[in-house]
Amino acid sequence: MREMPKVELHLHLEGAAPPGFIRDLAKKKSMDISGVFAEDGSYAYRDFWHFLQVYEAATATLKTPEDYHRLTLAVLEESAAHGVVYGETFLSPDFCGGRDVGAWREYLHAIREAAEIAEKRDGIILRGIVTCIRHFGPEKARETALCAAETAGDWLVGFGIAGDEKAGKPKDFAYSFDMAREAGLRLTAHAGEWGGPESVRDALDDLRVERIGHGVRAIEDLALVDRLAEDGVVLEVCPGSNVVLGVYPNWKSHPIETLRERGVTVTVSTDDPPFFHTTMTREYEMLNRTFGWDDEIFADLARASAEAAFCDDETRARVIKRLEQT
Ligand code: ADE
Ligand code: ZN
Repeated sequence: MREMPKVELHLHLEGAAPPGFIRDLAKKKSMDISGVFAEDGSYAYRDFWHFLQVYEAATATLKTPEDYHRLTLAVLEESAAHGVVYGETFLSPDFCGGRDVGAWREYLHAIREAAEIAEKRDGIILRGIVTCIRHFGPEKARETALCAAETAGDWLVGFGIAGDEKAGKPKDFAYSFDMAREAGLRLTAHAGEWGGPESVRDALDDLRVERIGHGVRAIEDLALVDRLAEDGVVLEVCPGSNVVLGVYPNWKSHPIETLRERGVTVTVSTDDPPFFHTTMTREYEMLNRTFGWDDEIFADLARASAEAAFCDDETRARVIKRLEQT
């Protein structure tokens, strides 16, 4: 399972930071973030909304482009060790330079440089998706979209929205998504994780996204499931994240298998792996154990994920070649 070549489309860069990495940074900067960790050194939070607070407290230790450079190297080393050959990561100008375009360029440059080093070192290819944070509100999202539009290109390939799905409505963010689309960015939105089918519908209708982060609660409305299948909307499903955060009580009750059987294009990612005690290998192992997914299904999954990637076609061809080699 570990060696199988994988494609991961839904990973928050700060959310992938190993706890030890954040603890060391805090110590170096004399920051007290003890509330972030449990006694055993792992991240500690009570529920999703507390998770968002802990996430932001941990992220506060990342203060310079150099910190993000080192973080990117650490995260990609871990991803590559679990067979990921191509990944897309969410980046937030909110955390990287406070939505100032000039500062954001410096963070992006540092992250991209680290990705190039990791590609040479581990063979893993990375691309970036800027995300605005829903609970920071539509005004800040516009500034974020401007950062994204100014740096859109062959590496920064997408725009999205994360954060508290219960804060505001997708429509409030339509201006930002329109700006990103104008700049040539491909679009995705977190929806159908804490909101129901109507949240997924609103993201499709009001933000005109082609992928949905999570989207799993579409299962509560089979007409919507048919629409996703017919329109080829891709779901970035993160089952381990959903189970740990309590969207579903256990793996057996997770809808990923039903969605797949009903013809929806599903992909598999870790979301924020150390927060959810997971890796891409563990996601694969649990899918095999719970639903009997075999090598053929995993090969189809990786291929479909490569097809759904926001990179250019030359990069996609390189990724597909890597998938076929093994
Ligand atoms: N930010 C990091 N992880 C997230 C998740 N699972 N949902 C929404 N926002 C997030
Ligand atoms: Zn996410």
